[in-house]
Amino acid sequence: MRLPFNVDLSGKVAVVTGGAGVLGGFWVDALAACGAKVAVLDRNLMLAEKKAAEVTANGGIAVGVEANVLDKDSLKKAHQLIQEKLGTCDILLNGAGGNHPKGTTTKEYLFPEDLSEDREETTTFFDLDEQGIRFVFDLNFLGTLLPSQEFSKDMIGKKGCTIINVSSMNAYTPLTKIPAYSGAKAAVSNFTQWLAVHLSKVGIRVNAIAPGFFVTQQNEALLKNPDGSYTERSRKILNSTPMGRFGEAEELIGVLLFLVNEEASSFVNGVVIPVDGGFSAYSGV
Ligand SMILES: NC(=O)c1ccc[n+]([C@@H]2O[C@H](COP(=O)([O-])OP(=O)(O)OC[C@H]3O[C@@H](n4cnc5c(N)ncnc54)[C@H](O)[C@@H]3O)[C@@H](O)[C@H]2O)c1
Repeated sequence: MRLPFNVDLSGKVAVVTGGAGVLGGFWVDALAACGAKVAVLDRNLMLAEKKAAEVTANGGIAVGVEANVLDKDSLKKAHQLIQEKLGTCDILLNGAGGNHPKGTTTKEYLFPEDLSEDREETTTFFDLDEQGIRFVFDLNFLGTLLPSQEFSKDMIGKKGCTIINVSSMNAYTPLTKIPAYSGAKAAVSNFTQWLAVHLSKVGIRVNAIAPGFFVTQQNEALLKNPDGSYTERSRKILNSTPMGRFGEAEELIGVLLFLVNEEASSFVNGVVIPVDGGFSAYSGV
């Protein structure tokens, strides 16, 4: 991986939750390329091990570790394994997160006709499923809090330790259709500030990255029509992005390396940094 600048993380242990995911994989590569020993922690052990093997093949140090970020016992087991294989944690990147279709409305607005009987294919606000909403809040909020509880214990008494959370554009202003995901990411931003304050006396910095809209192999089909043109939602996103384009996953790396680098960001604490081409700054007028 080509890094935007060099940061020396040799000797550091980084735990990346959701490390087998799309963006998680880029973060794992970047931290490993800087010399960190990386634990690719994911619910999907096969993918975590695959990612770790990729890192190792490129000359880095990584292990794939299975854990559910919503299960304290599972995190404890993963923590023990990471301590044995790599050492105690210096950097925690809470990357596991996401949305659920059952916490999502079909349309942006509710129209009177949506309330008629024969509208089975439309999920309105009234149809949102409690389980789906709870899933999204748990995964994003609790799934950030529980690993922070588990791994920050290692950081107490060590220098240069830090936690990075992952928020989103919907935390600033909710995006249409996804009330659960928007609320959950707002909670992640809020928790980032809370934890930064709470852990400030033990020297652990806590910050977050709020990615804007990124085209990845996995979401390309959602953002583009089969003929390669943008979908209506994509066009709306682009019209609301002053830089007029989607981001590339590599463009998240600079902020990550800045935040984990004690020399660069030693007094940066409790911030949520948008990487969004200006999306969150633009009112649309
Ligand atoms: N992709 C984007 O454009 C975008 C934009 C803004 C924010 N984000 C956020 O960035 C983070 C990473 O996104 P991504 O696109 O790489 O997602 P992804 O779905 O590709 O990866 C998420 C990973 O988390 C793992 N995971 C899910 N539930 C888990 C659990 N309970 N325990 C452990 N692991 C679990 C999955 O197995 C997967 O490997 C997420 O927090 C997401 O909300 C993504």
